Amino acid sequence: MAKSPAANSGGSNEYVTLTDHSTGKSHDFPLMPGSTGPKVINIGKLYGQTGHFTYDPGFTCTGACESKLTYIDGEAGILMHKGYMIEDLAEHSDYMELCYMLLNDDLPNKAEKAEFVKIITEHSMIHEQLKTFYDGFRRGAHPMAIMCGVVGALSAFYPDSIDILDPVQRKITAHRLVAKMPTIGAMAYKYSIGQPFIYPRNDLTYAENFLHMMFAVPAAEYPVNPVVAKAMDRIFLLHADHEQNASTSTVRLAGSTGANPFASVAAGIAALWGPAHGGANEAVINMLAEIGTPDRIPEYVDKAKDPEDEFRLFGFGHRVYKNYDPRAKVLQESCHEVLNALGIEHEPLLDIAVQLEEMALKDEYFIEKKLFPNVDFYSGIILKAIGMPTTMFTVLFAIARTIGWIAQWKEMIEDPTQKLGRPRQLYTGATERSVVALHKR
Ligand code: ACO
Repeated sequence: MAKSPAANSGGSNEYVTLTDHSTGKSHDFPLMPGSTGPKVINIGKLYGQTGHFTYDPGFTCTGACESKLTYIDGEAGILMHKGYMIEDLAEHSDYMELCYMLLNDDLPNKAEKAEFVKIITEHSMIHEQLKTFYDGFRRGAHPMAIMCGVVGALSAFYPDSIDILDPVQRKITAHRLVAKMPTIGAMAYKYSIGQPFIYPRNDLTYAENFLHMMFAVPAAEYPVNPVVAKAMDRIFLLHADHEQNASTSTVRLAGSTGANPFASVAAGIAALWGPAHGGANEAVINMLAEIGTPDRIPEYVDKAKDPEDEFRLFGFGHRVYKNYDPRAKVLQESCHEVLNALGIEHEPLLDIAVQLEEMALKDEYFIEKKLFPNVDFYSGIILKAIGMPTTMFTVLFAIARTIGWIAQWKEMIEDPTQKLGRPRQLYTGATERSVVALHKR
């Protein structure tokens, strides 16, 4: 089957003609334009018309939904939410405003923001009974393991907000999830170090509150450093949504079955955990520590380039960005701000990171494969500088991405064209045969 060179133009009547050379038949498939970015070929009727499926492992060329939330141009290194560039949002907006926008039409005005912040603040406590869940985990459990369990269990605690067909309940669930994730995450950490849980405080901002629940103890005051809180808020904002990435697609797929939003988000947390996705920020720090000193960088760059070696430079490369990840650029700036504000003049891991980045960006292998630093490259260093334990890095990503997951889930439920997600396959196993009786095998 070959693509005809004559992809037509002319507004909504555009189509692409595919010719099946085995039958000599041609079939037209509509081209759907987005508001920006490449048009997509609607192959919904492909099997019906041709008897063939498409084959696209990793969904590298497959659009599974229509979305108005986030746009990425990977070649140009552009990330926009509802038309606003991520750099602009990082400079002139904040995480709560972005959360509001992802659940509503546009950025909030002053009154809308105040009301939204109040709602989120007032939903930040968790059911007291949920605390007993933590006791069931081993102290050394990875906090992401705790997150998968506890977030999934929320559906048992808030059954009043899991009717997915009720728009009011969908909104309440979104608020509950965004509000409770920092509390659940911070409790996972406190449990692991044997300290008492710290309850959320309504006089603190979202980022301040999270830092307070992480680092305060009942015995002493814990004033949150405003520079650290600002960096934290920026990290949340930069990770809020990233269109149809692996964890978001997981949330949509789970949600497409009618599963409740808490269960769907728990599935997203599991997908985020892997080192090829959200686990990369933790892997970056482990890798920089393993490199240890700048003189060993060439050895690791060579390892990453060696096709026989499975090692990859964590924090480099991205499925969509074939240019500098715009979020990494913003974080590079924040990284220096935070280190200056904390009076950290010399951070050995940052020195290694800077030199590693320089070397990789000049290396033919990385240039040719378009491997640039991604968001995880710098977020790990900032988090380390502010004293965040490495095992919490991916938890932080999960907290930030919760708004993206729930906004995408909500968009899917409200989209009349969405159906149960169910990919097809190319079967290469045995063809029909008879079972040989056990005594004859
Ligand atoms: N180091 C060395 N080589 C790399 C790297 C890397 N970090 N990333 C990709 N490559 C190479 C691959 O070996 C492959 O080489 P080949 O063409 O010779 O086979 C080529 O570049 C293309 O890579 P793929 O893995 O095919 O591309 P894909 O889009 O599937 O991978 C991924 C994207 C998984 C992110 C990859 O770049 C990677 O593993 N990076 C390291 C992990 C990481 O930082 N993940 C965070 C992603 S950002 C996020 O989730 C927030």
